Amino acid sequence: MTQKNKLRSQDWFGRKGRAGYHHRAWVKTEGFPQECFAGRPVIGICNSASELTPCNTHLKFVAQAVKRGVWQAGGFPLEFPTISLGETLLRPSSMLFRNLMSMDVEEMIRANPLDGVVLLCGCDKTTPAQIMGAASVDLPTLMISGGPMLDGHYQGRIVGSGTDERRLDAEVRAGRLSPEAFIESEAEAMRSHGHCNTMGTASTMTNLAETLGLQMPGSAAIPAVDSRRYALAQLAGKRIVEMVWEDLRISKILTRKAFENAIRVNAAIGGSTNAVVHLLAMAGRANVSLSLDDFDSLTRGIPLLVNLMPAGEYLMEEFFYAGGLPVVIKELGKIIHGDCLTVTGKTIAENVANAKNYDERVIKRYDQPVKKDVPIAVLYGNLCPDGAIIKEAAASMELMQHKGKAVVFENIEDLHARIDSDDLAVDENSILVLKNCGPRGYPGMPEVGDMPIPKKLLQKGVRDMVRISDARMSGTAYGTVILHVAPEAAIGGPLAFVENGDEIVVDVPQRQLTLLVSDSELEKRRANWQPPELGIQRGYQSLYIKHVLQANKGADFDFLVGSSGSSVTRESH
Ligand code: FES
Repeated sequence: MTQKNKLRSQDWFGRKGRAGYHHRAWVKTEGFPQECFAGRPVIGICNSASELTPCNTHLKFVAQAVKRGVWQAGGFPLEFPTISLGETLLRPSSMLFRNLMSMDVEEMIRANPLDGVVLLCGCDKTTPAQIMGAASVDLPTLMISGGPMLDGHYQGRIVGSGTDERRLDAEVRAGRLSPEAFIESEAEAMRSHGHCNTMGTASTMTNLAETLGLQMPGSAAIPAVDSRRYALAQLAGKRIVEMVWEDLRISKILTRKAFENAIRVNAAIGGSTNAVVHLLAMAGRANVSLSLDDFDSLTRGIPLLVNLMPAGEYLMEEFFYAGGLPVVIKELGKIIHGDCLTVTGKTIAENVANAKNYDERVIKRYDQPVKKDVPIAVLYGNLCPDGAIIKEAAASMELMQHKGKAVVFENIEDLHARIDSDDLAVDENSILVLKNCGPRGYPGMPEVGDMPIPKKLLQKGVRDMVRISDARMSGTAYGTVILHVAPEAAIGGPLAFVENGDEIVVDVPQRQLTLLVSDSELEKRRANWQPPELGIQRGYQSLYIKHVLQANKGADFDFLVGSSGSSVTRESH
């Protein structure tokens, strides 16, 4: 594309008569001269900054840097806000709103006179929501994440967001740390702008956005407060203008091969289990065929190369100093489809050709990994006919084959009420089962699958046990946790019929999860089962429970899968 009359924005700003006047004149009130409307690529800067999303507040500064680059390249930047999703404040679950944010992003990109878009993300759901929305429009699209916060330090050791919060909480509940010391640790663990500094969901998704080819090479790991993030954002602003002239649309980048790369890299970085639902949903928007089974088959044999919490020792700051994601991709070599196109206009192999590993304690060599062959395993069986997942890198190897009796919690309130009770009939061989926390049943599939270890077991020194649910787990969490059981309990999946004392067999090497209850007994329980009363009559939650897909389909809305393109033919002025 080289002619200004081919620019999509000219269908607004290049019009003659009253319609053109109407589109230009009000934007001129912001102080822009006529030359801005005469054939410059208009770049939307889609900003998820919000003071209610602490991980994203500084994106207002990132946006300024992007704008510098857009102006420099002859474009016309216009920033717009969207819904923002912060993990730490939203109730009942931020995941409830991922699809809503994706709809906001999609509709605002399509409805406005934009030729290209820069997505500014950070906290967990903001990354997939923006990619989902942008993929359903298909303009030239580039993503800039806000970057991770600096390392936390407490009592002489580095502490990672989320991961050490859980560890310290367990110490308080076991009586080994005072509540006052726990509060004191907050400010020492979280001390700068940025998203979580562990390889939690935010770091996972921004690294996977880079793997997919949507972020500038090496950008995911740059700390939020590092000047190089802002320099890179300026270069990204220049680059998106070039992408418009090259007509390098997101559909040319989000291919099946790119998703395969992302799935493999997720295993090598020890990424979050949340990547499974998010990649499935993003692929659906990009019209790429991807299934739950791809996560298992594509990751078998992939070693864990990145030594970051929660599966390892370090944090994103050390990952950046070691060389970041380009080193990992280069180390994976032929396992990665090197010919995938990226926002640079080059292939992913070209992007990482000069990557160097500056710290092999943090990024391991392929032949000397942190752990060998620790994929996200996909389990099947009579407890999860449509699948369930477990992140082996964060689990205890001695529990990979385990038989135990179920201790059942009917919902999250039941769990909170009884988990620390002295009367709870539980021992270290028990399997904790949590129901009604799936996409529909909660609603919104919260991160509660890593149920706390019962207090009486913590006091005995137990630090891990098998836990099974239809919920998700925070990317900063760890343990032998089986998640995303599908179909979920609230729609009558077999999880709904588990009772206290039922025996369950977990066999991760064989990829099986079996409830040792006869089919006839399960049918009897099904006949007596009543779906939980959700009490939702109206509004967004009503739409959500009617249309949300199960976890094995990415928990998107059924009516959002696919793309509608960028065309808007009707003019109301
Ligand atoms: Fe925002 Fe962890 S809470 S990234």
